[in-house]
Amino acid sequence: MATALVTGASAGLGEEFAWQLATAGHDVVLVARSRDRLSEIADVIASATGQRAEILAADLTDPEGLELVAARVADPDDPISLLVNNAGFGLGKGFLDSTWEDEKRMLDVLVTAPMRLSHAALPGMIARGHGAILNVASIAAHLGDSTYASHKRWVVEFTQALAGQLADTPVTATVVLPGLVETSFHDSEELVHMRSDFPGMLWLEPEQVVTSALAAVRRGQTVVTPSVLYGVAGAGLRLLPARFTRRRRTGEA
Ligand SMILES: NC(=O)c1ccc[n+]([C@@H]2O[C@H](COP(=O)([O-])OP(=O)(O)OC[C@H]3O[C@@H](n4cnc5c(N)ncnc54)[C@H](OP(=O)(O)O)[C@@H]3O)[C@@H](O)[C@H]2O)c1
Repeated sequence: MATALVTGASAGLGEEFAWQLATAGHDVVLVARSRDRLSEIADVIASATGQRAEILAADLTDPEGLELVAARVADPDDPISLLVNNAGFGLGKGFLDSTWEDEKRMLDVLVTAPMRLSHAALPGMIARGHGAILNVASIAAHLGDSTYASHKRWVVEFTQALAGQLADTPVTATVVLPGLVETSFHDSEELVHMRSDFPGMLWLEPEQVVTSALAAVRRGQTVVTPSVLYGVAGAGLRLLPARFTRRRRTGEA
């Protein structure tokens, strides 16, 4: 049975990816730092779905942690056929107010980890004749107003470049651009204000985002923006002059 590896599977969208993939008949490998939380989720998924749910506790900012996950992704004896690069967080601060350590952590998780893990996954997928990469970006990719937004824009560009390079192979690359989603992403002191700043109609459920992303993977679609509202907003943002989209706001999604 095909196995999917999901980073950031201890909460939010990653947990939902793990559930939907296991329900659809995939074995899953759950990656995040919170070992206990991963174990709880894996136990419930395994007993509810009958699929194998493995955990890999790793900090993607730690080079050793990242290499541990890369080795699992590249393991020829227990192949991964879907890599979901989902782990992420926002700083909720402008570049001038953040520390270098915070910026480096965010770069490691949002950029280095998806690049490293994709690099580890693709040779085996191509040799086996099937596989897919799914990267989680954000609607923020259309805003050039923060390092978070710049990294998410990179995730979109990276996935599009990968999709081009994979065009003559049986392997696909997809990027999903969620809008605001009800997860623990906005629990931090710096981002919690966003829950009241934005009306309820703008908040998506993880289930909707994940269903839409996995449907795009099945279709081999490269870019997907879940919900009609955010699809229209994304198209509008792409048309706006950069002087509007690059002005610093105080939120991230
Ligand atoms: N929620 C939104 O509004 C929204 C909108 C657009 C895009 N996104 C993107 O969606 C993705 C998932 O976010 P979410 O909303 O589900 O947030 P979340 O509920 O806060 O979950 C984030 C996940 O990332 C993991 N993670 C964070 N730092 C990590 C590290 N150093 N090493 C390994 N794992 C790490 C966390 O696990 P541990 O803490 O256990 O390590 C957790 O499982 C992110 O890439 C985010 O940028 C979210």
